[in-house]
Amino acid sequence: MTTPHHIAIVMDGNGRWATRRLLPRVAGHKKGVDALRNCVKHCMERGVKVLTVFAFSSENWNRPAEEVSGLMELLALALAREVPQLQAEGVQLHFVGNREGLSDKVRAGLAQAEAATAGNQRLVFNVCFNYGGRWDIAQAAAALAARGEPITEGSLDRAMSLAHVGDPDLLVRTGGEQRISNFLLWQAAYSELYFSDKLWPDFDEAALDAAIADYAGRERRFGRTPEQLTAPRARRAA
Ligand code: IPE
Ligand code: IPE
Ligand code: MG
Repeated sequence: MTTPHHIAIVMDGNGRWATRRLLPRVAGHKKGVDALRNCVKHCMERGVKVLTVFAFSSENWNRPAEEVSGLMELLALALAREVPQLQAEGVQLHFVGNREGLSDKVRAGLAQAEAATAGNQRLVFNVCFNYGGRWDIAQAAAALAARGEPITEGSLDRAMSLAHVGDPDLLVRTGGEQRISNFLLWQAAYSELYFSDKLWPDFDEAALDAAIADYAGRERRFGRTPEQLTAPRARRAA
């Protein structure tokens, strides 16, 4: 079975999970952290090499102040609680997104966690926090302009915030919505899309396996014809 090398996930549905249980929305986000911990473990067991998750979007600042501060606290808490275990498991952590707007304490925590896990090789784990696909493209273009470099597909790609990994093979969204919500606009150009009705806190090992199995049945053509994909190598290059 073909396992995706890089899986990206829009972890959606925490709020509905909580609301259905008459709990505050932040309780759903807490459950979401548990689901993410399991997901990281399961990805490693399945041989996935890169996992990129959407934890807080540029637009999520528009939520009620109480929810935003709850999410910030959860990030700080998760940093303190989860990093030692991730380190022990061989996970290389990256925080991807605009760090302006985050508190000094959180920023220092992110940098510390990245430095501590930089040598790990088992799984590259990108947490997109205060991330937006449009922000990413704009920051890459601004960096090139500031250096006086020409803007090409290649130079933009190298300036993008996920330049340390290849593009996602599989992009999963839980929670039933079928939209990108300003996630990896540039990097998802050829990702296979998979939508699950499960709310993120309910997205368990079996659900991830179902997504991986679905991916294994896809034919990725990258613009070619089906015949080209089955033709011998020599002919394919012609
Ligand atoms: C996703 O769950 C997590 C974040 C956006 C932080 P939601 O909070 O969007 O959950 P729903 O979509 O309201 O159920
Ligand atoms: C996308 O979910 C962002 C994250 C999962 C972090 P949203 O719940 O914010 O997306 P919309 O608003 O429904 O498009
Ligand atoms: Mg949502």
